[in-house]
Amino acid sequence: QTGYVTLDVGYKNTGATKSNITFLDGELGVLKYRGYPIEQLAEKSTFIEVAYLLIYGELPTAEQLTKFQSDLTHHTLLHEDMKKFFDGFPSKSHPMGQLSSLVAALSAFYPESLKSNQTAEEQNQSIIKVLAKMATVVSWIYKKSLGHPVIYPQNKYDYVTNFLNMTFGQRTEEVEIDPVVVSAMNTLLILHADHEQNCSTSTVRIVGSSESNIYASVSAGISALWGPLHGGANQAVIEMLEQIKNDGGDTDKWIAKAKDKNDPFRLMGFGHRVYKNFDPRAKIIKKACDDILEKLGINDEVLEIAKRLEEVALQDPYFVERKLYPNVDFYSGIIYRALGFPTDMFTVLFALGRLPGWIAQWKEMKENKEPIGRPRQIYTGATNREYVDLDKR
Ligand code: SDX
Repeated sequence: QTGYVTLDVGYKNTGATKSNITFLDGELGVLKYRGYPIEQLAEKSTFIEVAYLLIYGELPTAEQLTKFQSDLTHHTLLHEDMKKFFDGFPSKSHPMGQLSSLVAALSAFYPESLKSNQTAEEQNQSIIKVLAKMATVVSWIYKKSLGHPVIYPQNKYDYVTNFLNMTFGQRTEEVEIDPVVVSAMNTLLILHADHEQNCSTSTVRIVGSSESNIYASVSAGISALWGPLHGGANQAVIEMLEQIKNDGGDTDKWIAKAKDKNDPFRLMGFGHRVYKNFDPRAKIIKKACDDILEKLGINDEVLEIAKRLEEVALQDPYFVERKLYPNVDFYSGIIYRALGFPTDMFTVLFALGRLPGWIAQWKEMKENKEPIGRPRQIYTGATNREYVDLDKR
């Protein structure tokens, strides 16, 4: 082994890059996008304004925001041939597998995005297109899962309202999109928009570092996010809460299972690689849960189970010693469900929220002209062996 390498499996203590985009303080539970506290952005901003902030580095002026929204509006349509890809999936195939494939398929329609040395304008066109079109892809995945006709984007709507209309709208009649739902969706998407070098973002950066195009890089990020240890946790949390509810709501029994090293069960939505304190996003979502469910007149029994689980876990030495707190995925599914989304769409919604962060980080990696990502290893395999003919094995 020439030279030496520092082994850090899972990159627990490795800095992969320098970034100006998102700041986390795991000990204090602090999250900031371009220096702005997540609490202020969640309360005062909109998802598209936060997308602009993450991608271009500054809060937009009114004129810049209007142009950004207009650019997005004029790229929301998918090429009609994209429908053939949608039709190819079995009706119950997981939305994340569809989304990853469909976003990669978009590259077939925009060959200009395949150029590795794009001009700034060409790169920005690719950014606008993937951000605009993924919302349409997500809503059409949902419509196809119901066997319903897809709803086309409408230029009169802003990005989030357009997404909700394509998702919950009907071909046969105009559907009023509830402002409470629009506001809740903006907040959830803002809270998911970026999170420094998490598993899926690191995947987007490393795929992009080979000069692969933005669609392939985002598609890879979607695949990484799918796992239940990462974005897939929001679906796993609701499935866990349902399981506990159906099992009589005995939270002590499930906390004991989560602590039992011989039991593979983990308390989904709990713990975090960086946060060793409350995930600030979980705090905001927990508060929003009560507010939104009350406004929508919904009483969801699993919310009470979630609150009880949190309360018991936060007093249990096993969780306290390991600094395991609720993360962004612990309460988000409860709101998604209240907004009308089925459980298997939750991680796709995480991906839609994370998209501006992936784009911003991909753009920064290219602006920094970072080298192709290629880590080393500690080799522990066989040293030197002579080939053995088949008849002698
Ligand atoms: C996201 O990185 C990001 O920023 C991700 C994310 C983002 O915005 O991009 O924040 C989004 O992915 C949030 C995390 C969602 N995942 C889950 O909720 C799944 C459940 N959580 C865990 O699997 C775990 O906590 C991770 C994956 C989140 C973090 O894992 P680490 O940092 O590798 O920690 P670990 O698995 O080594 O756990 C440390 C200890 C272990 O016990 P010991 O070996 O020390 O005895 O804590 C235990 C673990 O067994 N542990 C848990 C637990 N999480 C950790 N025990 C029970 N239940 C849990 N949830």
